[in-house]
Amino acid sequence: MRTAYVNGEFIAEQDAKVSIFDRAFLFADGVYEVTSVLNGKLVDFDNHIKRLKRSMKELDFGPTINEEEFLTFHRKLVELNEIKEGIVYLQVSRGIAERDFTFPDSKTKLTITAFTQKKDLIDNPSVHNGISIITIDDLRWKRCDIKTIQLLYPSMAKTEAMKQGADDAWMIQNGYVMEGSSNNAWIIKGKNIYTREADNLILKGITREAVMKVAEELGYKVTPKQFTVTEAENADEAFITSATTFVTGVVKINGSKISSGKPGIFTKALREAYIKQALKHLK
Ligand code: PDD
Repeated sequence: MRTAYVNGEFIAEQDAKVSIFDRAFLFADGVYEVTSVLNGKLVDFDNHIKRLKRSMKELDFGPTINEEEFLTFHRKLVELNEIKEGIVYLQVSRGIAERDFTFPDSKTKLTITAFTQKKDLIDNPSVHNGISIITIDDLRWKRCDIKTIQLLYPSMAKTEAMKQGADDAWMIQNGYVMEGSSNNAWIIKGKNIYTREADNLILKGITREAVMKVAEELGYKVTPKQFTVTEAENADEAFITSATTFVTGVVKINGSKISSGKPGIFTKALREAYIKQALKHLK
């Protein structure tokens, strides 16, 4: 049985509870981060906290957070739950208030919760076989740069992908690929790598930033530029990045194979290089 974290306390998962008046429950008024764990340590923790703070600021959350305290309870959760490989899910909501659309005053106390999940991040079938994706209309709001917990549309999109026998969905606007349901989308053409520029319409992935550096070091030219579904279908390779998938090859788009239909050679090299540098910077 897992131990979860609720507002400063470590509690058995079945007893970990929050109020029905919490604004996360009523308005999806909360933000979150998913940090991966390798060798029992946190990957890129500082950047996840930085993004969390930005999300909170964009939504005008009153109180600030103490980074050291967050690091301490993340580490403690990993230890208590004996996570060697997996993730820590962290959620911060604006807190408890009477149901009212207007934000309550800044005296509301944040609700801070976290839990762990064990996962095979380094070695799993998706890494070897690649994933297949469908494309779907991007019907999300225009502040996808904020990592909020309102994930119903991505959840619908991924469920639709599963129904169609695929693994995931890429969000499309005007023929252009925005990002995956919970990951960033990339293609490779020759020595050029493309992923959409990070504005208000997609999430600026922490893995995306790290992979950009790694790719440059491997001699690729990374251009943050949007690409169409047709360009993706005709790419040499395609892949996704996120804290839970690292770099994972995309081998099929809407049923049509990309190149050989296997994860590409450069995708594999990028994945290896990403993991190698991640292992060097654990916290
Ligand atoms: N999702 N785009 C979206 C919409 C995401 O939800 C995520 C992360 C990413 C990749 O971000 P990062 O590299 O920082 O993980 C891009 C997490 C993993 C999730 O919701 O489970």
